[in-house]
Amino acid sequence: MTCRADTVVALRAAGAAFILQISDPIPRVLHWGADIGDLSPATVSALALTAGPAQLNNSPDIPRTFSALPTEYEGWSGTAALSGHAHGRATTPRPRLVTHHVHVPADGIGGRVALTFDDTIGGLRTELTYRLDAHGVLSVDTSLTRDAALSPRIGSTAYTVGSVLSLLPLPERATEILDFTGKWCRERSPQRSPFGFGTHLRAAHRGKPGHDSPFLLAAGTAGFGFGHGEVWAVHLAWSGEQQYLAERLPEGAGAFSAILGAGEELHPGEVILEDGERYDAPTALFIWSGSGLDAISDRLHSRLRARPTHPRSPRPLVLNTWEAVYFNHDLDRLTALIERAADVGVERIVLDDGWFRGRREADAGLGDWFVDDDVWPDGLGPLVDIVRAHGMQFGLWFEPEMINLDSDLARAHPDWVLGPAEGLGPESRSQHVLDIARSEAYDYLLERLDALVREHSIDYLKWDHNRDLLEAVSQGDDGDRPSVHRQTAALYRLLDELRSRHPQLEIETCSGGGGRIDLGILDRTDRVWASDCNDPVERVQIERWTRAIVPPELIGSHLGATRSHTTARSTDLPFRLVTSLTAHAGIEQDLTLVDDVELAAITRWAGMYREFRDLLHSGRVVNADLADQTTALSGIVAQDGSEALFSWSRFATSAAGQSGRVRLPGLDDTSMYSIRIREDLGSSSRHQGNDPEWVTDALAGPVEMPGAVLATIGVPLPTLNPQQAMLIEIRRTRS
Ligand code: GLA
Repeated sequence: MTCRADTVVALRAAGAAFILQISDPIPRVLHWGADIGDLSPATVSALALTAGPAQLNNSPDIPRTFSALPTEYEGWSGTAALSGHAHGRATTPRPRLVTHHVHVPADGIGGRVALTFDDTIGGLRTELTYRLDAHGVLSVDTSLTRDAALSPRIGSTAYTVGSVLSLLPLPERATEILDFTGKWCRERSPQRSPFGFGTHLRAAHRGKPGHDSPFLLAAGTAGFGFGHGEVWAVHLAWSGEQQYLAERLPEGAGAFSAILGAGEELHPGEVILEDGERYDAPTALFIWSGSGLDAISDRLHSRLRARPTHPRSPRPLVLNTWEAVYFNHDLDRLTALIERAADVGVERIVLDDGWFRGRREADAGLGDWFVDDDVWPDGLGPLVDIVRAHGMQFGLWFEPEMINLDSDLARAHPDWVLGPAEGLGPESRSQHVLDIARSEAYDYLLERLDALVREHSIDYLKWDHNRDLLEAVSQGDDGDRPSVHRQTAALYRLLDELRSRHPQLEIETCSGGGGRIDLGILDRTDRVWASDCNDPVERVQIERWTRAIVPPELIGSHLGATRSHTTARSTDLPFRLVTSLTAHAGIEQDLTLVDDVELAAITRWAGMYREFRDLLHSGRVVNADLADQTTALSGIVAQDGSEALFSWSRFATSAAGQSGRVRLPGLDDTSMYSIRIREDLGSSSRHQGNDPEWVTDALAGPVEMPGAVLATIGVPLPTLNPQQAMLIEIRRTRS
């Protein structure tokens, strides 16, 4: 439907609304936030009447506007949605609406607005589409097409795209910013800052989101937390380079005060559009919540879970061989490990790095994706047979986008290595990057992956990517050209092709742990390896924040050795077991070194994982807002509130002697619940004389309590020693 201009359109779903005024020459956002109900004529005219701000002193003589594609022409002095040039010209775009198409489904839930703009200055056609899904997540897609006929003045001159950003306005009350940073083994460290004037810009220049990925940029009302405050957030569904920004100018943003946005970070000249060519910017997802961050996660998790491709079979308990054997691949040793794993209840074995030609250490072999005859004289067949004989699935590690110079592949095709013709820059983890946008390199990888998956009926790939991209240019006769965008697009093509050839194949995205976790790659993969750090003290936090976007069933969480291989910290087994239970669980330790007592505990844990995985992999993630940051209470609550599993953890000591009454979020206030403290995995050590009375009772058997006491008033929890955790199981007895 093409409607008359000057229409106000509301997309509404799950308590959120996006209201757009489709006006000439360019639409503007009237509201993004809480649903305000059906648009009455009075609401429409009031919104339109209040859409313009004051015209300020010493400012343009018209009120400044912040439109769907804000430009300097409208008086917008902030970051532009569109930038670029045609050989140094046409730098002041003036997109003008030419068509619009609105679709709201018959049930009134969500909908889509598609807008097309012509820019006669740059000779560009822009398509901008807003979609609100049933979960209240607003996705924004923008594409640019070069159309020489639109601008006779610059004719057929190619247009160099600077950036294409998706931007939405924010109200004045969004005064605090939360985003993430981190490093190897410390991914998704939250950082908060006041939302002051200027641009809070987070750019990822690593050829991937990185361990310090901004991940989710949220702006909210003062003190917003997991369960309270109004929050507006953005995530870019893209695995290449990116930028996230929150910006506040003294003159505001039209009738609003600030903006939030994201887009791909392009290198100079990376995207040049000849006549008829098109650039599709990655999808930006905007999520609003009136009740804190957990509701943001809830919307994103529901969106992911509704995908037809979302993994629906019970998530198998994994054993990954990395920290058990590293590069020491040996059939006898691995057989002993697999047998132990089978006894414990493992359902999927993943053979990690070290199986392919020349890969005896980390400095050789990447690229030679053939089974190493020296280590595996009879191929992988005997190992796979043992795995299958135990009824388990088989997974294999790859790092397809990487290459060691010490490999047959690099010796045969030195020009397939991504980097300047002048000479390669320094190695990182002894490796370089394969230019997979080259069709020969792409074809080689596809053939190798496809052949190995086929030969061994591989169920699962762990797809790794262990270095940042630096000087990521493709060599050509006419010079080197920036290639991160093309590299990322080729990766997506490769994953898509492999999945279409092997529909049952599952893929895990790994990048030195959690260096490439985003909703672009998650459209093509089934699990994320959240971190190389299995130390539960770190892992609790890493996973808690990874769940801001990714639901538990897609997050790999493994039981590591007593002494962490990545932090050298030693922790008690029960703490490690509890921490690795509440996602897609697995084991990352040498079970042949574990004594019978520990093995029995691990076997009980595997049983508990099977007992709880339906709940863990379908429920709502909740977190208590606690003043004491050395503790955490996280839970997963069934969608209908009928059951829940909470973990109460303490990482370090704190001055507070008592927890106080801690509220268990997500439970139904009007129901009765039975509560049990589950210490089947071992008792957590306490920093107190005796437990609170109700805890003593709940350890002995179920205790009944009204939901209102649990969720609204709260209960005192034991004071644990540092590096301890306890599981609380809750089931509804009466509604
Ligand atoms: C990366 C991964 C690890 C492991 C190693 C193998 O660091 O994150 O889990 O697979 O590579 O080299």
